[in-house]
Amino acid sequence: HPSGDPRFKLIDRTLKRFQYQQDALIEVLHTAQEAFGFLEEDLLIYVARQLKLPLSWVYGVATFYHFFSLKPQGEHTCIVCMGTACYVKRAAEIVASLQAEFGVEPGQTTPDGKLSVATARCLGSCGLAPVIVVDGEVLGRETPETTLSRLKALLDTSQPEPMAG
Ligand code: FES
Repeated sequence: HPSGDPRFKLIDRTLKRFQYQQDALIEVLHTAQEAFGFLEEDLLIYVARQLKLPLSWVYGVATFYHFFSLKPQGEHTCIVCMGTACYVKRAAEIVASLQAEFGVEPGQTTPDGKLSVATARCLGSCGLAPVIVVDGEVLGRETPETTLSRLKALLDTSQPEPMAG
């Protein structure tokens, strides 16, 4: 798996705790969703491989249970960690600022499809609290201001550039 992403360690920990038994699938998917906010295809593939289950089976379980959300189709994603370390560093204010600015609650995508927002429970980088993940990049010591300006810049540059002159 992509080494360096601390979130995979959380999944590995759950896999080990259940000794890679296939009936641990739901637990493992829970951990994956808590760490990543959404179940992305890469994660489902990773979990399927680790548990030696067919990918179709893992997809089936992930789509059957309402408490799992597959990654929405937003062009960009912002996941805010709401684990204890981040929560005490006011991660909820970041979530509130996203709601105020873009009108999206965790689990939602803006109507224009540009931005999906989610929350996660401990991304495994508590030393950097509060932590967010924008398009897969782990960012630490965020404030509502830094998060908003990042996202605004990102969403601006994803618009077509006006022709000069
Ligand atoms: Fe946010 Fe651990 S609580 S990274």
